Amino acid sequence: MPNVVVLAGDGIGPEVCASAVEVLRAVAPDVELEHHLLGGGAYDQTGSPFPDATRQAVLACDAVLLGTVGGAQNSPWNSLPRPLRPESGLLQLRMALGVYANLRPVKVMPGLEGFSPLREDLARQVDVLIVRELLGGAYFDPRRAIEGDQAYNTIGYSKAEVDRVARVAFDAARTRKHEVTSVDKANVLEVSELWRGVVQDLRDREYPEVKLEHEYVDSVAMLLVKTPGRYDVIVTENLFGDILSDLAAVIPGSLGVMPSASLGDGPGLYEPIHGSAPDIAGKGVANPTGTILSVAMLLRHSLGRDTEARRIEDAVQGALEHVRTPDLGGQGTTQELGAAVLARL
Ligand code: NAD
Ligand code: IPM
Ligand code: MN
Repeated sequence: MPNVVVLAGDGIGPEVCASAVEVLRAVAPDVELEHHLLGGGAYDQTGSPFPDATRQAVLACDAVLLGTVGGAQNSPWNSLPRPLRPESGLLQLRMALGVYANLRPVKVMPGLEGFSPLREDLARQVDVLIVRELLGGAYFDPRRAIEGDQAYNTIGYSKAEVDRVARVAFDAARTRKHEVTSVDKANVLEVSELWRGVVQDLRDREYPEVKLEHEYVDSVAMLLVKTPGRYDVIVTENLFGDILSDLAAVIPGSLGVMPSASLGDGPGLYEPIHGSAPDIAGKGVANPTGTILSVAMLLRHSLGRDTEARRIEDAVQGALEHVRTPDLGGQGTTQELGAAVLARL
């Protein structure tokens, strides 16, 4: 029987995970669920944001479902030494699982174009897959420090790190419109020059039928809003991908609807792209859509259950036509939206 580890985390994490777990139970009753600690709550209880018990469980399972981690700006967690902070727990989890490719699909579901701040005709065209490199760049480079009145971080990438994530993007493009846009800052950064060369070589050698464009990240930030329909698959480094995916989340209308899958050679990690939303935590109004759609990605990518994944996606679309949480301009609660999804399953 497949085994899924659930890490509800902090803030709205437990609220959105509760809905997502009910959906998972409904479509895959045979899946065994195990709950573990991650993030600030894990630190409070065990002294580590990524406790050993969590590490052992995730390394032994088939897939991990994660809520969110982190506290408000003024949380005492933010005064801890960096390796003990909730966000470090998440980064350690990603590294332990070796999940180097983070897939962040951006789609406006049919009938829901009205939620987008973009004109409906623009919103309707959007179907972008952002492939964000997840284990490299400034996030993990050891060349970092605060020294006296100076501080620095380093964005380092090896050719092998670029090659493996670019492959994921090209493979995805083969199942879509066969177009990849590689996003960099090669007009300024050496690391982007290397990135660009590796992606181009790979395309020329192994993916000649895929159309490849290279674009600068500042320009992409503008074009993603102006003419988002021009993109099929975007591949980019860790920090650019973090920023561009929150930007792209505006298109479907809320950060709360965006799911993600992080893939490597072992168990996959599935989480919404939003954070712990301290401003609404505990109020029962968080949008669970991103987490529920992450369950669909989990079923598809880690358990090979595409039919169940589609059932969830259809149910979410149907539910959102009737129940909307405040981030989408409605008055529905997390529980009501979750129940509307379950009713359609
Ligand atoms: P955030 O994503 O938590 O919130 C940004 C805004 O979006 C807030 O107004 C919030 O209410 C809203 N929002 C987010 N998710 C929502 C949802 N599901 N439904 C309705 N509204 C939603 O970003 P932030 O405020 O910058 O960060 C808060 C904390 O979360 C920080 O500690 C940060 O480090 C952490 N964080 C964690 C993750 C993660 O666990 N993967 C991701 C991003 C940020
Ligand atoms: C995300 C988050 C994380 C990141 C933080 C919380 C470490 O913003 O998953 O997008 O930057 O990767
Ligand atoms: Mn982010």
